[in-house]
Amino acid sequence: MMTSQKEQEGTLPGQLAREKALSSEEFSLFRTLIFQESGLFLTEAKKEFLEYRLVRRMKETGASSPYWYYRYLLDNRVSEMPRLLELLTINETSFFRIRPQFDLLRDVVLPGIVAEKKQSRTPALSVWSAGCSTGEEPYSIAMEVTEFLGPVNDWRVKIYASDLNMQVLAQASRGRYPSARVTESVPPHLVQRYFIRQGDEFLVTERIRKLVVFDFHNLMHDNGLTDLDVIFCRNVMIYFDGEDQRKLIDRFHRSLKPGGYFFLGASETLQGVDDRFRFIFHRKGAAYRKAGGHGS
Ligand SMILES: C[S@@+](CC[C@H](N)C(=O)[O-])C[C@H]1O[C@@H](n2cnc3c(N)ncnc32)[C@H](O)[C@@H]1O
Repeated sequence: MMTSQKEQEGTLPGQLAREKALSSEEFSLFRTLIFQESGLFLTEAKKEFLEYRLVRRMKETGASSPYWYYRYLLDNRVSEMPRLLELLTINETSFFRIRPQFDLLRDVVLPGIVAEKKQSRTPALSVWSAGCSTGEEPYSIAMEVTEFLGPVNDWRVKIYASDLNMQVLAQASRGRYPSARVTESVPPHLVQRYFIRQGDEFLVTERIRKLVVFDFHNLMHDNGLTDLDVIFCRNVMIYFDGEDQRKLIDRFHRSLKPGGYFFLGASETLQGVDDRFRFIFHRKGAAYRKAGGHGS
């Protein structure tokens, strides 16, 4: 018998489907819990999406109904919530995503920071890629920084990269990507310098990998990072509601040093949300700068 696309994705036919379908009360219970835990806000339109994902975890945990699974989730929050969240997060990313922002990083941000630090004789640079998914973003930053500082330099560079999805973090720290994923978005001279071909995959070189520290972190909570030069948090806040966005921006503001730079995704903005940052723009690339630093 042919199975439909929905069945393959995890919905069940007939009677079973009815047992596994979410009532609106159950949807509301899950939605509140998921929101409290991750900041991820599921609109009504996401009910079916949640149902598909729940069916998968229900099968794997032997849950007989959504409510049974909800109780299980409450009783095993620490181990089960990350498993469910892994199925709900959108992990789309690519190397040098939004290329003009990397031009801005190379042409404006890095020259400014490096000149200032040379003057103060503090050759250290710290960047945070928050919501780093499978690692393409922090590795792209590491390549850009290495290009700028030169292959042999005495700078202490640290790129913190965090996510709440353990699966993507595991992939990220392997630093191994299908070759098409690399060649379609990384300029050829950087592929040559910073990747090693292994069969039909590319491995990020150790020089780049050792600049990046991957760690689990839920952006709903503080992680204590301070004095950062640059933060990238792109295409993450769009999934947060207004109040949590404001709290998150406030935490980023505290983590950045005066004059630090903040990169957001193309559909995200601070305009009208937080006036402690100044908008900067260069060759179609946009970012924000925290007030107070040298030349800001
Ligand atoms: C669409 S990807 C963006 C990846 C990368 N920043 C980019 O723009 O290419 C969003 C990432 O944010 C992560 N994420 C979502 N909510 C999060 C939270 N509350 N804490 C940490 N990471 C979160 C997801 O797991 C996912 O990997």
